Amino acid sequence: MLPGGLPVIGHAISLVRDANALHMYARQWTRDLQPVSISLVGQRAYFILNPRDWATVWKAKTLSFDALVEGGLVAMFGVTAKGVQELQSDPDGLGPLLQHNHAYLKEFLGPGGSLEPLTRGYIKYLDIELQKEVSGSGIEVKLENWVRTVLTVASTNALLGPELLKQEPDTITRLWEWERDFQTLSLGLPAWMLKRAHANREITVQNFARHTFDKSAMDIVSRLQDLMRSRGVSERDIGAANFSFWSAVQANAPLTAFWMLHYILFIPGLLDKIRAEIAPAFDASSTKLTNFSHLLDHCPLFDSLYHEVLRYTGSGVGIRKVEEDTIIAGYTLLENALVMMPVRPFHFDPAIFGDDVNEFVPDRFIRDEKTLASGLKNPGTKVLRPFGGGTTLCPGRHFAGNEILSGVATILYRFDVQVVDGEKMTFPSSKEPTVGTYLPDRDVTVRIQTRK
Ligand code: HEM
Repeated sequence: MLPGGLPVIGHAISLVRDANALHMYARQWTRDLQPVSISLVGQRAYFILNPRDWATVWKAKTLSFDALVEGGLVAMFGVTAKGVQELQSDPDGLGPLLQHNHAYLKEFLGPGGSLEPLTRGYIKYLDIELQKEVSGSGIEVKLENWVRTVLTVASTNALLGPELLKQEPDTITRLWEWERDFQTLSLGLPAWMLKRAHANREITVQNFARHTFDKSAMDIVSRLQDLMRSRGVSERDIGAANFSFWSAVQANAPLTAFWMLHYILFIPGLLDKIRAEIAPAFDASSTKLTNFSHLLDHCPLFDSLYHEVLRYTGSGVGIRKVEEDTIIAGYTLLENALVMMPVRPFHFDPAIFGDDVNEFVPDRFIRDEKTLASGLKNPGTKVLRPFGGGTTLCPGRHFAGNEILSGVATILYRFDVQVVDGEKMTFPSSKEPTVGTYLPDRDVTVRIQTRK
């Protein structure tokens, strides 16, 4: 048991205030990265800190993800307990929906599925948004707010069709408010204790429930709706379930794109190098992105920077519930406890990433180890775990890469983005609530103009 827990409350306050600080403390305290116990108001939880043990956790049938999804749908997304039962029913032999949700999404978002049309749609809507946003003498904006809005609108329109945001334009700001409430909602407290958070979520759920998705939405949306209806799920609960899927699409990718742009603008010399790398992906006269695969296959610095952003700003924590006593790394994890696999302490391990692990190093994953000073490393991008792992490995990771890389590249190719005088670099804030990527400790003002 990690020292420092308060009577009754245990480590709950420390976890909500700054989960990363608690993870790092546990990592320093334990010997040889053994599992560490914490107490959350009487609920036992384990930090599994050694990445070698994660593979065992991912494979263990007695450590369940579905049980947490059921609870999370109720506490965080407001699906009713009856709705969860209906989602888990199997009237047509196609299987319980929650259990198979991941398989459907994997098929939909995987290469060879709808990834290509979704990416094409996204690039089309990104074009429309950028043309609307920047014209004439340009605009002065807060970078995080602007990038997140533009990318969220483009990917929402590509996935759900453009009507939802036309009819309910405040859906995006409501999502951001919900993200700030994410941790408190996850405690499952009743509506009268979290009035504002519940009210904000209910309006969003109702907006989704009321909306009729037409043919401009991707097929998966109507396919999942049909499956839910055939299981008797109410229209309100279908709205809540659709909101949960949409929030997974939006939670991390637009914010990751903001971080990429932020570092490109603030680190001297980076902008010109990145522009030179990405230029062949664009048609010079129309400034349209015409060769997307160039961004994936021929932009090593851009790719290294993307992975460094995932490492440096990511705050993902894999979770499981212990369904029956299970031995991991020689320790018995007790039934009903939670298992948490925080990725950040691993992403900041100097033994893997080198002595400059606390710095943001854009070329970390392309630098030549033979020429590096002693203590510095290039571990390769494959060691990173920003998307989790095992059967719950993020099904949206391919689209995330497509969305982020094409979004950042298009903005840089088309526009001059100047940091306004006096603005300084911002930092990932581990004290702000996070869904998987840290918010900046403050936003940065920039001027955006069309490039000549
Ligand atoms: C930088 C962007 C992203 C990051 C860092 C990220 C990370 C993650 C992580 C860590 C998980 C949990 C995995 C686990 O428990 O093992 C997850 C789950 C998920 N992600 Fe992502 N994700 C991103 C973007 C996306 C996008 C763009 C989509 C959809 C297009 C998406 C859809 C999902 C879904 C549906 C799940 C839940 C999977 C399940 O129920 O098993 N993600 N993501």
